[in-house]
Amino acid sequence: MTIEDDHASADVAARTERRWATVSVVIIVVLALMAAFAGIHRATMPQARVETTDPSRLHLSGEFVEANLGSVLEANGAVTVRAIGQQYSFTPACIVVPADTPITLRATSADVVHGILVQGTNINTMLVPGYVSEQLMRFEKTGDYLMPCQEFCSFGHEGMWGKVRVIDKAEFARLAKTSGRLSCVGQ
Ligand code: CUA
Repeated sequence: MTIEDDHASADVAARTERRWATVSVVIIVVLALMAAFAGIHRATMPQARVETTDPSRLHLSGEFVEANLGSVLEANGAVTVRAIGQQYSFTPACIVVPADTPITLRATSADVVHGILVQGTNINTMLVPGYVSEQLMRFEKTGDYLMPCQEFCSFGHEGMWGKVRVIDKAEFARLAKTSGRLSCVGQ
């Protein structure tokens, strides 16, 4: 190795470094332009409908009072489920629904951002305090599904689990006759 060789390889290294620095700057600029383009051309649309609720008064009045939580069979045969997420549980902790039925889940949070995810399905929504999250669901088969909180909501997050129990349609209709709001908590 001579001194000239050393200079030559230092030049090569400097050139390569500059080239890669340029490539990474170009990638960042392209991504920023794509984000701006998508935003400006409304490729990222706001929600069509936003429903709000007061998280500090959920338990006092309105749709999410405790007596109104759980599953209810509507006159048209569909089912509506109302639920709340709070640090660190869901109410009801066990949601019971019939198989082969259109179900509307309506849920919100009483404190911080939580998430509802039903394992093995594509049911996945965030619960944001102040907003009502609505999610359509349908289960073809009966069985139990785990429902973990999927948004980090502080230290008890990993212990925040619920369950969805899908039961036979006729059985659900029979239960719905005797009780207004159904859940499978404690069963
Ligand atoms: Cu609630 Cu994580």
